[in-house]
Amino acid sequence: MREDSLPVLVAGTTHPSLGRDVAARLGVPLCPVRFTRFSNENLKVVIEGAVRDRDVFVLQTSCPPVNESLMETLILLDALRTAGAGRVTAVLPYFPYSRSDKLDEPGVSITARLVADLLVSAGAGRILTLDLHAPQIHGFFRVPMDHITAIPTLCASLATEASAPRVVVATDIGEAKDAGRFAARLGVPLAVIDKRRTDDSEHAVPHTLVGDVAGRHALIVDDEIATGGTILEAAEMVLRMGAASVEAAVVHPVLSGNVMQRLRASPLRRLRVTNTIPLRPECVDDRIEVVDIAPLIADSIGRIHKGERLDDVASRR
Ligand code: R5P
Repeated sequence: MREDSLPVLVAGTTHPSLGRDVAARLGVPLCPVRFTRFSNENLKVVIEGAVRDRDVFVLQTSCPPVNESLMETLILLDALRTAGAGRVTAVLPYFPYSRSDKLDEPGVSITARLVADLLVSAGAGRILTLDLHAPQIHGFFRVPMDHITAIPTLCASLATEASAPRVVVATDIGEAKDAGRFAARLGVPLAVIDKRRTDDSEHAVPHTLVGDVAGRHALIVDDEIATGGTILEAAEMVLRMGAASVEAAVVHPVLSGNVMQRLRASPLRRLRVTNTIPLRPECVDDRIEVVDIAPLIADSIGRIHKGERLDDVASRR
């Protein structure tokens, strides 16, 4: 196969292992890039590989330092434009600022939309991302976007187990649709928690549980875990309502603040996450199991490169 008919993969510095794994699965080397950070904290990016007129994919997730990672993504995209790249797709396993998706009080920035504008201005002609906090972020883009899901990947890792879940629990009404997808794939009923967040303190309070969890092994699902408040308080509620045991499956392991301390003290048997975000060393724990999404991302990139549809790779229906 001619080299110039293959996709080019450029990885930012946020998730080196995912970059290597996706490149290996695509059968391409990672495009060499030189990053220089100056004493004034400015960043210089030099694309050292051949990208002129090529189909380029920039893999970069959002993780701490989040703002620096975003700026690096923008500079990478702009450097690719200078280097004469053909189509450029930003591959963002965890979308930056995806929780800032609406006007939740007067005078705020809908920052996810600002990020969308910045990505396109910097040179992204297409976006590939996973499990957005709110699907309406899709509409912030005027360029093609593929919004895929890791739910089938997470379900496949659960279905084969002896202790497979007997009920799926959504952490709030907003999560009920995705939780329903988990439940349908696993062939078990769904229960939904009515959770209320009263201020900006990131403290969520579960009020009521709709559905039956008594005597069942419960699987709490959510798009992300940050401080752990949502999942851990849901776990306690589910056990209070008589569940036999409780574990959780979450796509994005943001794992911020003192979440590990809380997790270790919680009744949660296991937390299954994907590797859309690299785990900090202090978050490596027997209770956290990481499911690899490199095959899903590589497959999706391969299909976009060949102009194929993605629906059967990771359908959101
Ligand atoms: C909220 O609507 C999301 O689906 C997650 O429940 C939330 O982002 C998790 O945050 P935390 O772990 O801080 O409760």
